[in-house]
Amino acid sequence: MYCADTSRYDHMLYNRCGKSGIRLPFLSLGLWHNFGENVPYERARELALFAFDKGITHFDIANNYGPRPGSAEITFGRILKEDLAPYRDELIISTKAGYYMWPGPYGEWGSKKNLLASLDQSLKRLGLDYVDIFYHHRPDPDTPLEESMEALACAVRQGKALYVGISNYSAEDTRRASQILKGMGIHCLIHQPNYSMFNRAPENGLFQALEDEGIGCIAYSSLAQGLLTNRYFNGIPEDSRANGHSVFLTRDGVTQEKVEKAKKLDAIAQRRGQSLSQMALAWNLRNPQMISLIIGASKVQQIEENLKAQENMQFSQEELEEIDKILLGSM
Ligand SMILES: NC(=O)c1ccc[n+]([C@@H]2O[C@H](COP(=O)([O-])OP(=O)(O)OC[C@H]3O[C@@H](n4cnc5c(N)ncnc54)[C@H](OP(=O)(O)O)[C@@H]3O)[C@@H](O)[C@H]2O)c1
Repeated sequence: MYCADTSRYDHMLYNRCGKSGIRLPFLSLGLWHNFGENVPYERARELALFAFDKGITHFDIANNYGPRPGSAEITFGRILKEDLAPYRDELIISTKAGYYMWPGPYGEWGSKKNLLASLDQSLKRLGLDYVDIFYHHRPDPDTPLEESMEALACAVRQGKALYVGISNYSAEDTRRASQILKGMGIHCLIHQPNYSMFNRAPENGLFQALEDEGIGCIAYSSLAQGLLTNRYFNGIPEDSRANGHSVFLTRDGVTQEKVEKAKKLDAIAQRRGQSLSQMALAWNLRNPQMISLIIGASKVQQIEENLKAQENMQFSQEELEEIDKILLGSM
């Protein structure tokens, strides 16, 4: 029977999530590509328990993570039942709704019908009475924002979610969503954007909106799905995401330009005494609104390496300028 490491809280850095009572570990574990039914159960279990033993208390899931959509929730539900049940109150478990899940007009986007039905399905797959955070996964251009936010508020009132969040929302929609929720007495806890050295879009207004609204930021794909690590320095490894079935990172996505930039960034990382993945994570966390980064990991060694980002989080002005130049392609 699994017994959690008693030293799990000794070294982890926990950051307060905006204006709330919740603190999240600086690294969270994401279950997007690594907990589907194409992954052996024992490997997924090993990742989850290793992470928890290191103080990673937050697990990020969505209704559609798999493949098959829903299977990541089923896998994590089994780990919860067989190993983590005694630790439920030490865990923050998130799920989301908004992407396609079932046929017909109610199987995706942002209607109240879709969001609440999806949450019920997620709870069933996870074997839980409630999740800690329920997100609207993507903005819906055709549903009034008031309706999607009412669905999130409803989830809280029904006791099926403790907190709510939004993902992939623009700065303007984030401000509106936050105000609508406030009007219903609900605080928007967290926003989940794509942010990394290779995607700096949130710097154009989103971080400011989050600060103004007291919302915490948790980034996904901080390592650009592996491109901001040494994974592709010598070609495309057989066991890598780019060589698998993911449509989000294909072999064509591993461009010469990105690999060249990554190698230049790696030279700075080495001077700082860390790996590229560690520097890329530390760089994301230099933003005061950034409280946690959701890492995907296919091996426990990757989690282990990434956790050591904590050992050097400070950047000199010269380092930041050098990084900017590499990213802009002027170096
Ligand atoms: N809200 C949204 O719309 C949204 C969208 C996408 C993701 N997410 C969330 O964010 C999480 C993370 O996304 P992501 O998987 O794209 O994140 P990521 O951390 O940028 O990429 C993860 C991949 O990077 C590689 N990697 C990680 N650490 C490494 C290391 N130390 N050395 C070498 N390679 C390393 C691994 O690739 P290999 O597999 O090749 O080993 C791993 O699968 C997801 O699981 C999900 O929870 C949310």
